[in-house]
Amino acid sequence: MAGITNAAYRRLCMEQATAQGGDGLFVCEMITSRGLVEGDATTRSMLVFDELEKVRSVQLYGTDPAYVGKATEILCADYGVAHVDLNFGCPVPKVTRKGGGAALPWKRTLLGDILQAAVGAAGRYDVPVTMKTRMGIDPEHLSYLDAGRIAEESGVAAIALHGRTALQGYSGTADWQAIARLVEHVTIPVLGNGDIWEAADALRMVEQTGAAGVVVGRGCLGRPWLFRDLAAAFAGGFAAEPLDPTTLPTLGEVRTMMHRHAELLCRHMGEERGCKEFRKHVSWYLKGFRAGGELRHSLALVDSLAALDALLAGLDPDEPFPVAELGTPRGRQGSPRERVVIPEGWLDDTDGTRLHLTEETTETTGG
Ligand SMILES: Cc1cc2nc3c(=O)[nH]c(=O)nc-3n(C[C@H](O)[C@H](O)[C@H](O)COP(=O)(O)O)c2cc1C
Repeated sequence: MAGITNAAYRRLCMEQATAQGGDGLFVCEMITSRGLVEGDATTRSMLVFDELEKVRSVQLYGTDPAYVGKATEILCADYGVAHVDLNFGCPVPKVTRKGGGAALPWKRTLLGDILQAAVGAAGRYDVPVTMKTRMGIDPEHLSYLDAGRIAEESGVAAIALHGRTALQGYSGTADWQAIARLVEHVTIPVLGNGDIWEAADALRMVEQTGAAGVVVGRGCLGRPWLFRDLAAAFAGGFAAEPLDPTTLPTLGEVRTMMHRHAELLCRHMGEERGCKEFRKHVSWYLKGFRAGGELRHSLALVDSLAALDALLAGLDPDEPFPVAELGTPRGRQGSPRERVVIPEGWLDDTDGTRLHLTEETTETTGG
């Protein structure tokens, strides 16, 4: 997730999963193919990995097969990346207006060319390529089943489906039936995405859809222990329902997690930037807890680890987890768009190979 899954947060989530004897793939924030190929400094600065990351996994954005191929080559050759994911899920008008993100899979031939360029480059390093997409542009213009077939034909190792259209943005609920339909449609593994708020949701999704695994987005915001719960759930230590309240962290445990998060950010970015970066996570960590407005406000302005610890000391460590928060959305939601902005004539054909889509060097809106 753009702006969230930097090396520090990936490590924190990984620590949670491995403490439970589990694992998982923690994907680096998305970078653009063009940015990487042209040596853009911001793009390169995002390619930072923690020393504990055994599998370097990066998500690439791209609309031009040549750039995507070259970028994949650079990731594998220069950065020791062991998994490349291609993102075709971004619903943001700035991106779809140019035919990128969730609009791109409508152009089936172009999609195939991009996937093949990545798979060809990564194949020389034995690196698997996966893709992530939405159901389509809107209910009348779905592309996910074709995308699955094209992915399979292109040698893509797995496909992740976010069960929403671009029109839906992040609103409403994800359509898990679409995930089940894709599972039926392809032979490669399908990873389901959308509305995994608790570990029990992941078990339900896998059970209801036959997905080979799940992709977690907003559910982990301020909740790195979700990966501990997921590890326990998939190891069979968790009933799908009801959730065992004894596994929920008290505010004292959340406080420890907040400190660890900030500490890792400071280690990777330096104290000033690390603390600034941490600020956006405060409200997610404290969602539903009683912590007072003044304390929250001060935490959201924190500028040193010492100041953070002093403020965290003001939180009641024995306060139980606010169970009313369980299963509720966090992060981006909003309402459906009125229409998806796409280039004129975009829906007229499904080829797209003669198009020269302009790709920004930095694109940070994600999926
Ligand atoms: C802040 C934020 C940043 C995101 N960045 C990306 C991204 O870079 N790449 C991507 O594939 N999806 C990105 N997403 C989308 C999520 O990965 C996920 O597909 C979507 O939120 C639906 O899953 P969820 O219901 O579990 O959140 C982002 C979502 C949010 C809220």
